[in-house]
Amino acid sequence: MKLKLTLIALTLGAFVTLPAAADFQQQPRAAGIETYGYTWNSPDQDMNRALAHKANAREGEAAYKVCKGCHKPDGSGLADAEYPQLAGQHVSVIIKQMMDTRAGRRDNPRMYPFAGEWIVSAEEIADIAAYLNQLPIPSSNGKGDGANLALGKRLYTKDCASCHGEHGEGDARKYYPLVAGQHYSYLKRESRESRDQGRRNASPEMVKVLKPYSDSEIDAVSDYMSRLKLPKK
Ligand code: HEC
Ligand code: HEC
Repeated sequence: MKLKLTLIALTLGAFVTLPAAADFQQQPRAAGIETYGYTWNSPDQDMNRALAHKANAREGEAAYKVCKGCHKPDGSGLADAEYPQLAGQHVSVIIKQMMDTRAGRRDNPRMYPFAGEWIVSAEEIADIAAYLNQLPIPSSNGKGDGANLALGKRLYTKDCASCHGEHGEGDARKYYPLVAGQHYSYLKRESRESRDQGRRNASPEMVKVLKPYSDSEIDAVSDYMSRLKLPKK
């Protein structure tokens, strides 16, 4: 009898919470670069919790199962769908991007239902980041057509290497993403979106650099970036 009542309560409970579940899968919207007074990478409680956690890559591997469908078991993503490559990415970058998505500073309606607190805790995100960070960077990522690599190299060296590194290594301490091995389609999209303030968590310093870029210059620099490789250790 008691069991039966519990079952009824559970069934009712499921119905009562359904609309709420649908609601909280709607991504919130927080102030970003389009807002006067925006500060890039301002302190965030959720992020600090993840950063303070003593991460465990083993547990991260298990928690990563909700991400695999899109980012693939080896972290290589999907060039055609603009699902980013995540293998080898800096822990700090993965954590920041996840928390920006959760808070609504980076719009990502496709991923949001899998990124919320009700799916992964801040600690699990830190574990997943540790797991992804130690995966080898695949070299089979999507690349451009190779038509303007000389221009791409000139632009990259002049405008991007100071932050993203000569070999695309980024900078974990400063939350600058690793771009070596990233898909061309994704690099292109993020550069354009950052230039046009569509990527709302972008770095204002980078946006200033990208502002005068034409679409074809972005294509060229993205193609060059997609071919960067870290030197062998
Ligand atoms: C339904 C597909 C989907 C699922 C599931 C998903 N993601 Fe994503 N993820 C995306 C897309 C699409 C983007 C790129 C969005 C954009 O272009 O702004 C992205 C972006 C990211 C980024 C930013 C990468 C960067 O270089 O800035 C990180 C980090 C990330 N996802 C981690 C995760 C983790 C961890 C999980 C599991 C908890 C997960 N994702 C689940 C689709 C997904
Ligand atoms: C002042 C440092 C700086 C410079 C210079 C810079 N970037 Fe960035 N870039 C960043 C930061 C920081 C991010 C991550 C922003 C965030 O927090 O979401 C980023 C992100 C990106 C991304 C998205 C990567 C990802 O994993 O999601 C691309 C693509 C990119 N930059 C391209 C460029 C290109 C092309 C140039 C040169 C024309 C450039 N950047 C110059 C700091 C810089």
